[in-house]
Amino acid sequence: MHEFERIFGAKAEDLFTAGGRVNIIGEHVDYCGGKVFPAALNLRCNVYGKKRGGNTVRMAFKGIDGVVEIDTRNLDNYRHLKIGNYQAGVAYFLQKQGVEIVGCDLYYDCTVPFGSGLSSSAAIEVATAVTFCEYAGVPYDKVELAKLSQKAENEYAGVNCGIMDQFASAMGKKDHAVLLDCATLSYEYVPLELGKYAMVVANCNKPHSLVESKYNERRGEVEQALQIIRKVKNITCLAELTLQDFEEVKDLLPEVIAKRCQHVVGECDRVQRAVSALKKGDIPTLGALLNASHASLRDLYEVTGKELDALSGVAREHPACLGSRMIGGGFGGCTISIVEKSAVQEFIRYVDEGYEKAVGYKASFYETSIEDGVTVTKL
Ligand code: GLA
Repeated sequence: MHEFERIFGAKAEDLFTAGGRVNIIGEHVDYCGGKVFPAALNLRCNVYGKKRGGNTVRMAFKGIDGVVEIDTRNLDNYRHLKIGNYQAGVAYFLQKQGVEIVGCDLYYDCTVPFGSGLSSSAAIEVATAVTFCEYAGVPYDKVELAKLSQKAENEYAGVNCGIMDQFASAMGKKDHAVLLDCATLSYEYVPLELGKYAMVVANCNKPHSLVESKYNERRGEVEQALQIIRKVKNITCLAELTLQDFEEVKDLLPEVIAKRCQHVVGECDRVQRAVSALKKGDIPTLGALLNASHASLRDLYEVTGKELDALSGVAREHPACLGSRMIGGGFGGCTISIVEKSAVQEFIRYVDEGYEKAVGYKASFYETSIEDGVTVTKL
């Protein structure tokens, strides 16, 4: 018997899913109006559901005992929940937009590892938003659901993230990465064709700590950079600054702020170059840009830490690896590496051993594929 039936006493009728994501390149630039290049994964938030009607949403979670209940007449009251707050936030903002939140039973089976930097929270938000819209019987636009999910994370769960994760989770396309302009939300799908290479995703398994406060601190620093630069340059976001512009204004900035700004400007430039390299099938250049991205996140943006540096560093030592970098917010979580397909198993063994030697505990490696963002299935 499926867990859903055991818990709720009837069979699930629908399956709504949204992907976790990797980001090929373009890190810590989404909230600066830059371009990012993420893709949705086979690691996903799966929501099994049955519409019931009434005012109660009941939620159960794989691996966690008990059922969380949400009263749809009091959706503002669940900000404190440790589990279920993302769902409540999504319901709260949908309801504000006039969507009727219909009582239902939901079972969450999230295969995106929590705290891995693969955006389990975005996957949960987006899958939940789709669930509620489907049960309300209203048409929805996936880009709008991504924006609403980000709003729920910012204003309900209190994490000041950009739009990248929710957008990728909702709009991802099988075997493609999304080149997303975060200033305008215009986007283009680019086939993620790596030829004789594969992408390996590894988790450094660092226990979560201080990630959110450090993230918000970086956002404050780039905001400060923008304020100062706007006194001399007519720009609306930091991503508009060219490398040449940066040279002109860098002396106006305090040292640390200048480093943060240099990362953003350099990373935006790398995104362009990485996408054109990929389109030409020039995977070695893409790999070199991944390495440069990691170095910039380490030395200028300072969001890596010894675990991510060790994991990508050991990866880079291996002759079959073209490039490796941390992805997501940083301070823990995952790396991606581009590795010759024929040597993937041997690469994983090498990195596994070298990483454990360096930090004293093991990394995890995931079998990933690039999939569609949202899926809706009648069971
Ligand atoms: C987290 C945030 C994203 C983005 C990345 C860094 O994943 O949720 O919005 O800022 O960090 O690129």
